[in-house]
Amino acid sequence: MDNLLAPTTHTFAVTQHPTPRTEDDLSTILESPGFGEVFTDHMVDLCWSERGGWHRPRVQPYGPIELDPAAAVLHYAQEIFEGLKAYRHADGSIWSFRPEANAARLQRSARRMALPELPTDLFVESLRQLIAVDGRWVPNAPETSLYLRPFMFAKEAFLGVRPAKKVAYYVIASPAGPYFKSGPAPVSIWLSTEYSRAGRGGTGAAKTGGNYASSLVAQQVAYDHGCAQVLFLDSVEGRWLEELGGMNVVLVKADGTLVTPDSDSILEGITRDSILRLAEDRGHRVERRRVSIDEWREGVASGEVTEVFACGTAAVVTPIALLKAEDFEVGSADAPAGELTLSLRQELTDIQYGRREDVHGWMTRLDS
Ligand code: PLP
Ligand code: COI
Repeated sequence: MDNLLAPTTHTFAVTQHPTPRTEDDLSTILESPGFGEVFTDHMVDLCWSERGGWHRPRVQPYGPIELDPAAAVLHYAQEIFEGLKAYRHADGSIWSFRPEANAARLQRSARRMALPELPTDLFVESLRQLIAVDGRWVPNAPETSLYLRPFMFAKEAFLGVRPAKKVAYYVIASPAGPYFKSGPAPVSIWLSTEYSRAGRGGTGAAKTGGNYASSLVAQQVAYDHGCAQVLFLDSVEGRWLEELGGMNVVLVKADGTLVTPDSDSILEGITRDSILRLAEDRGHRVERRRVSIDEWREGVASGEVTEVFACGTAAVVTPIALLKAEDFEVGSADAPAGELTLSLRQELTDIQYGRREDVHGWMTRLDS
């Protein structure tokens, strides 16, 4: 692992975009950024080969990637990605939240998907390089940010099934407002009993495209039922909570205990870990263990479960008002957001936007 922390000797070659967005265009985009719709002027890319390791770090104009039709990723989905945000603080500086945790998760995902590990320093440097050219894309309106999307894929043109010997890593970025149209307002969730997201020994703990591809039909069923996200259960007993299509889930008990699923087939969310740490700091008990769907269902009915929320980089912390399933419902769509949910959301975003002291050392400055 030592070489993962070695200081980088890579120098990024920078090619400026010949016609970047005008300031006028940019201010219109940043007024209402949506999520993942518009991309900045530049992107970062690095190559990896079995012989040469990581090489050719570049910053170049954002644009289509040339790919051989036989590139392994297009056939066998050998791909991983990350998601984190750049936040503008009141003094204009630009920061990210726990980027080394995203780097470590990308390394774990790489190990599972037989891709090369990108050293932590190179990961953080790739973010800095993009911010150096596209920093003006980080919005400053409340609760907006620049969503950073690092990703890595097998680009070797070879149809035999084995780990690729040529790989590409990119970072693209997109200004972001709230992921849900309702913003931090409570959402309804659909419980999928028909589909699983991941299975034992599978890729559920890796942030790899296939997990999202396999969630799409279930997500569509959720939309058809008027729900914003789909909740998956374990694939063996169909009884234990896993996670939502793109976020983790946390239950709050009447005594203030926070309970969240412990499973080796879900993504270990950095937001969830941080929120639970903040709750522990406040003296709340936190339980990471198996949580059954009945515990949620019966708990809400008896008053034992008082709040439920979803959390993730895109969703931040989003209250869940209603859980709908084929043959039952828990909660009600017009239930107000839970108090603890909202105050933990506030504390987290206050740290991220530099409005509160960062006692955990979670923030990393990207623009200096
Ligand atoms: N679970 C899934 C499936 C996700 O896609 C995400 C988002 O990245 C999360 C959980 C939450 O992870 P994080 O808080 O690190 O964004
Ligand atoms: C994130 O929160 O970063 C995610 O990846 C969730 C979703 C947009 C896929």
